[in-house]
Parts: sequence; C-alpha cells; structure tokens
Amino acid sequence: MKICMIGTGYVGLVSGACFSELGNDVICSDIDSDKIEKLNNGKVPIYEPGLEEIVKRNFTQGKLKFSSDISLSIKKSDIIFICVGTPTNKKTNQANLKYVYSVAKRIKKNLNKYKVIVNKSTVPVTTGDKIEKILNTRKNKNKFDVISNPEFLREGEAIRDFLYPDRVVVGTNSNRPNKIMKNLYLPIIKKSNRYFNTSRRAAELIKYASNAFLATKISFINEIANLCEKINIDVKDISAGMGLDERIGGRFLRAGPGYGGSCFPKDTKALLSTARKFKTNLSIVKTVIKSNSDRNKLIINRINKIMKNKLKNKKISFLGVTFKAGTDDVRESPALTLIPSLVKRGANLHYYDPTGKKKEFKNKKIKFCSSTKEACINSDLIIIHTEWNEFKQLNFKKLVNKPNFKIFDLRNLYSFSKMKSNKLNYFRIGI
Ligand SMILES: NC(=O)c1ccc[n+]([C@@H]2O[C@H](COP(=O)([O-])OP(=O)(O)OC[C@H]3O[C@@H](n4cnc5c(N)ncnc54)[C@H](O)[C@@H]3O)[C@@H](O)[C@H]2O)c1
Repeated sequence: MKICMIGTGYVGLVSGACFSELGNDVICSDIDSDKIEKLNNGKVPIYEPGLEEIVKRNFTQGKLKFSSDISLSIKKSDIIFICVGTPTNKKTNQANLKYVYSVAKRIKKNLNKYKVIVNKSTVPVTTGDKIEKILNTRKNKNKFDVISNPEFLREGEAIRDFLYPDRVVVGTNSNRPNKIMKNLYLPIIKKSNRYFNTSRRAAELIKYASNAFLATKISFINEIANLCEKINIDVKDISAGMGLDERIGGRFLRAGPGYGGSCFPKDTKALLSTARKFKTNLSIVKTVIKSNSDRNKLIINRINKIMKNKLKNKKISFLGVTFKAGTDDVRESPALTLIPSLVKRGANLHYYDPTGKKKEFKNKKIKFCSSTKEACINSDLIIIHTEWNEFKQLNFKKLVNKPNFKIFDLRNLYSFSKMKSNKLNYFRIGI
C-alpha cells in the first residue's frame, strides 16, 4: 500500500519505518526540512533502540522515503496518517490542535483520489468530526474517510510495541476504510485477535482513558511509597505482592520520581479539559495530576532530610535526565524541575545521561558531564534519576573516592540490604 506519514517525529518515524518493514511504500513527510535532510543523509534524529537499522534497510531498498513536499506526498498516497504533535496549550490546558488542523487543510487541497485519512495523533474526542468538516467540500465528496487509529507505542520499546501490539484500535463506522486498515495491519495481527474496531469517538477516548489509567497506577504506587516510608515497609514488596494479582498486574506499579514524558502529563490535562467541556467531573484524573505535581516537592524535602538541610555548595551528581530509560526524550522529565530546585538551594549540580543529552539549564552551577565517573567524583550526594542499565551495577566507592557520600536512588535499582551491608549511605523511594 502507498502510505504517507505527515509528521516525522517519534510516532511518524517509528510507525512509518515499521509499515515499510511490513512491505508498504511509505513516505515520511515533515515541515521541518532540516529533519528530512538529515534522514535523507542517513541520520536518525531520535534515539530509539532498533530504529536506525529498520530505517536504513528500508531507505536503501526504496520502500521508505523522506520528503518535505507534503502536498506531493499526499497526492502519491492512498492512506494518510496524521502524526503531528498535540502539545498542551499552557493557557487553557487543552490539547493544542493547530498542527492537526493545519495538516487537515493541506490534505483538503490535495485530495486527487479516494484516501483514508487516519488520525494517529492523540486528540480530544470529536477532533475527527472537525477534521471531516474541514475536508468536506463539494470537490472532495466521496473522496475520503476520516478515521482514528491512536498509537500506544512506548518510547524505548517503540519498535516492539508497534510490531507486537497488545491491540490495534481503529475508530470508524464505515466498511471501506475498516477493510483497508485491517489489511494494512494484517501482518501484525493475524496471529491473534487484536484488531479492535469501534466508533471514531470511542477510539479517540480509548487513548486518553488508557494513558490516564496508567498515570493513575503510577501515582497510586507513589503515594503508597510515601506511606511505606513512614512505617518501615518496602514498597517493592507491595508492588510485587499486588502485581501478582492478574486483575492488577505488575506493570506501571514501580514507585519513582513521578511520571513525565511527552504523553502522560499532557494527555491527563487534555482529558480533564475535555471532561470540563462536556460538564463531567473526572475527580480521579484531577487528583492524579495534583499528586504527580506534588511529587517534586516531596522528593526535594526527602533530599533535604537526607542531607540534613545542608545543600549549599554540596556537589550533587545527577544520573540520567531523560524521563525514562531507552529514550533521549526529556520532555516533562522530573529532572527538569528537580535539578533547578536543588541548585536554587545552593547545590553544585553535575549531571550525566547515557544518550549524551545536554539540556541547556543556563546556570553556571549546573554542569554537564560526559560520563558517570566524571559526574560522581568527589560527590556529596548521588541521585539516580533514570533507570538506565549502566547505572544498575555501579561501584560507588570507587567512583566517588571520598568518604561519607550519600546515594538517593529514585528508581529503586539496588538491594537495600546489600547496600547497607556494604556500608553505603543508601536511600531510596518507599522505604
Ligand atoms: N511520543 C510518544 O511516545 C507517543 C506515543 C503515542 C502517541 N503519541 C502522540 O502522537 C502525536 C505525535 O507525537 P510525537 O511524539 O511523534 O511528536 P513529535 O513532536 O516527536 O513529532 C511531531 C512532528 O510533526 C511535525 N509537524 C508539525 N506540524 C506539521 C505539519 N503541519 N506538517 C508536517 N509535519 C508537521 C513536527 O515538525 C515534528 O517533526 C502526539 O499527539 C502524541 O501525543 C506520542
């Protein structure tokens, strides 16, 4: 099939590359011509395990192309995926849909034959209706169907998630686009009954409800961790004991610094705005957002306690800035609020991330280091922020080379008892 992805970011590039791997002719297009030029020169702009190989292989075979001529890409294709960002509008907390609508207007002008317009961006319920309205001119009559196909991939596991999905949700009440989509996804769904066809509005809401539910699971265990810290119980035992119940499941039940990334924070806020618009009270989601934003303060208080309120001129080594391992995405990462808060309290902060991600903090007391060793030498406190594999077996004494340093592990990567028996000043979440 001839496919065009409009928006070659995380979702557009990963799903475009995977569709080409499944044998389709794919054009990934974007308004960012630098990004397209890089891709045409063999440079993959994001860090995602396994992506580069798939991109290079299919690019070389001519099945995957990159173009900044969006109009031509639309004309050449039968299925058009909208994969642009839907960030939070800071004033209203609603999803900002200007990129989605701008793409819809571009499609409207370039409908040269029947096409399935698939919205893969995460959008509030009824956005599909609005896209349809934009496209619906006399000239375009019977030339399109607008459907919803939300994406559930996780950064860091994106290729596997795309090729082996738990489910493919397709929102349309029409047979023609449903048949086309089923055929497109056939290679990855044929072994199991994971293709779920529903209405367009339901598909839009499934995406938000799923993300809000996962955010709730994370916030729930984080609050249980707060209680564990007061009563000498290890939250890891609680997660394990709860997770064994198949009705609950162990995933997204690990206590940590709070959820971040490009999806959960914006999608929970957008869901709440939608509920407000339709005069519905989503009190649980509201509380989850508050609980997650309070987490930063709780962690800073804990650090103050660990350091006996003496952060001034102390060297803090901050390991990992991305919101989770396996990605170079720092959007809404808890690190972005924790680091400036610690510096505000007088600490000298040295940070390192395995992706080499350098974030401009514009403060002389925040220094980027190119290795764990460089970040940790002579440290007073090591904070493990991201669960990268390379932080899982560190020889702290050798790295720091100074007595009395402390470790605060926000991802619970080490055994509490082993660290204590090694006479390390080790602290972690939920104990
Ligand atoms: N990142 C994830 O893990 C993830 C997972 C599931 C769903 N989503 C959703 O998918 C959507 C895209 O997310 P993303 O992370 O890929 O975003 P992104 O910011 O990585 O990429 C968006 C791309 O769209 C391009 N773009 C913007 N306007 C355009 C236009 N008019 N024409 C062509 N290209 C345009 C941008 O230049 C950018 O390259 C969002 O709605 C997001 O919520 C993201």
